[in-house]
Amino acid sequence: MEEQEKSDPEDNFPEFLDWSNAIEVLEKAHEQGIFVLVIGPKGTGKTTLAVHLALAFIKYHNLKIAIIDTDPQGSLGQWFMIRSEKKLSNGNLTFKTASLWGAQYESKSLKKDHDIVIIDTPPKIESDARPSIEAADLVLIPMAASHVDFWATGAIVEIAKKANKKILVQINRSNQRSKLISKTNDFIKSLDILSTKTIIGHRQIYAASMGEGKTVVEKQRKSKAY
Ligand SMILES: Nc1ncnc2c1ncn2[C@@H]1O[C@H](COP(=O)(O)OP(=O)(O)OP(=O)(O)O)[C@@H](O)[C@H]1O
Ligand SMILES: [Mg+2]
Repeated sequence: MEEQEKSDPEDNFPEFLDWSNAIEVLEKAHEQGIFVLVIGPKGTGKTTLAVHLALAFIKYHNLKIAIIDTDPQGSLGQWFMIRSEKKLSNGNLTFKTASLWGAQYESKSLKKDHDIVIIDTPPKIESDARPSIEAADLVLIPMAASHVDFWATGAIVEIAKKANKKILVQINRSNQRSKLISKTNDFIKSLDILSTKTIIGHRQIYAASMGEGKTVVEKQRKSKAY
């Protein structure tokens, strides 16, 4: 716990850009007009992951991305509003809001002129999630290395599996050196699903950049090859 509270001196160059096989999976899928659903337990980093993926794809892959906010608490909308007020570049980025049902329709139309559509979902939506999961090409689940997140993730994984969807777990807000990482990997293995090779640490810069209507991608000076 206390290890997660510390801010990291390396904040200006976090590891998130190395999405490893996330990029591979997404790039293959986007050739077929992908629609990614970011879903998972409360507060695991769905919104943060959705915008960081979007901006990383734009900056490093020159892709056209649409993000859809289906969460009534509208944190993605807040982020986009600050961004627009600050006149930050939104080239190649489209932002929409929709209900979970509406997102299915919205994403179909956005797919026509975007490479990837990313849908950010609200927490606790297991049963409501079904139609969106069924329409998704990839179900991306951020989770922390914590038993509480294991318990909360199982139901979503079950629905996604029944719908025969590609599932990718991103471990977020976790310390690579924590003993819980191997437990998390065991948990992921036990579900027989994919996870990215990258573990995203607990870094203040994620929270700070979001508050400025930005992402770490835009703050990052160095570029890094995948
Ligand atoms: N890797 C990270 N390091 C530090 N803070 C993070 C990280 N990822 C997310 N956060 C912070 O954790 C909090 C929750 O993140 P976020 O809002 O993205 O999660 P969420 O899953 O979308 O939450 P909700 O379920 O409420 O929609 C935010 O304050 C965010 O800034
Ligand atoms: Mg959210």
